[in-house]
Amino acid sequence: MSTHAQELKTTAQALVAKGKGILAIDESNGTCNQRFANLSIPTTEENRRSYRKLILTTPQLSTYISGPILFDETIRQTTRNGKPFVQVITEAGMIPGIKVDTGAKDLAAHPREKVTEGLDGLRDRIAEYYRMGARFAKWRAVITIGEGIPSQACIDVNAHALARYAVLCQEGGLVPIVEPEVLIDGDHTLERCYQVSDRTLHTVFAQLYAQGVAFDQMILKPSMVIAGKDCPQQPSVDEVADATIRCLRKNPPATVAGVAFLSGGQSAEQSAAHLSSMNARYQSICPWPVTFSYARAIQQPALEHWRGEGQRVAEAQQRLLHRAKCNSAASLGDYSSEVERELALV
Ligand code: 13P
Repeated sequence: MSTHAQELKTTAQALVAKGKGILAIDESNGTCNQRFANLSIPTTEENRRSYRKLILTTPQLSTYISGPILFDETIRQTTRNGKPFVQVITEAGMIPGIKVDTGAKDLAAHPREKVTEGLDGLRDRIAEYYRMGARFAKWRAVITIGEGIPSQACIDVNAHALARYAVLCQEGGLVPIVEPEVLIDGDHTLERCYQVSDRTLHTVFAQLYAQGVAFDQMILKPSMVIAGKDCPQQPSVDEVADATIRCLRKNPPATVAGVAFLSGGQSAEQSAAHLSSMNARYQSICPWPVTFSYARAIQQPALEHWRGEGQRVAEAQQRLLHRAKCNSAASLGDYSSEVERELALV
């Protein structure tokens, strides 16, 4: 058992405390720059710093967000007067997290498939992040649905790496967020997504078990079971919630500390509606809290408003807070289009 076991359990539970979720702001420089470029925001380190500061200093964010996940560049940055972002986060009552994978790369001999890298030297990087104040970590594996894929080889290597990462995190005092993302890209049906998600989660949990991960000291970050974005038959909100919960109830053991979904390219409203339907209808039969760990579904309206302009910071922060509130309501099963509008007025 990790010498950090009690601390890990406490942190994991705090991350999924009632009415709270996680905010992913751990885009790599490449991804962050791409999102900036789409809005003609100059792709400089200073702009990435200003944008992350805007997010982390949003008043009342900690009412709805338990912890933000940072990128390596961000955890080393400070406010203009030199206060480290980690300190900004802890003073606001949130828990600092860090992305520790180094990205999804082409998987040899498997065209169109990816394997996530970052295991070499990970023990030392975890120790450094812990010293810097991080208390949880994230690793994202990517599974693509298409003709003839995913291969079992792709699922196996990604599951193996997720488990190696998770045990190293627990040894070093960071709660691992285990993120096997089944991509929404493509024209596959909900049923096909269900089959792939089920096979992926089954393989991931077999590896986590085989490699000695403590389930009560980790969080699962899955994608929802949903039709591909180009599928002509789009399921209803409740159909997505039903299929997702059905798949989840087969896989993560009851002792897993929490389930926190990614938004994966769904719109802000859709991802809140799906999460809310799951909680409104199934909270009582789920053994773990079911909440959010969104990036785009919380950040996008704020980023679009900010556009790199200092005088738009306060209004951008209000938009961010609004999405955090809506998703907090969704984690309680209380989100609806009326709540979406009401909360916008508060
Ligand atoms: P999205 O919510 O934008 O999918 O991002 C979540 C995340 O952290 C992806 O790794």
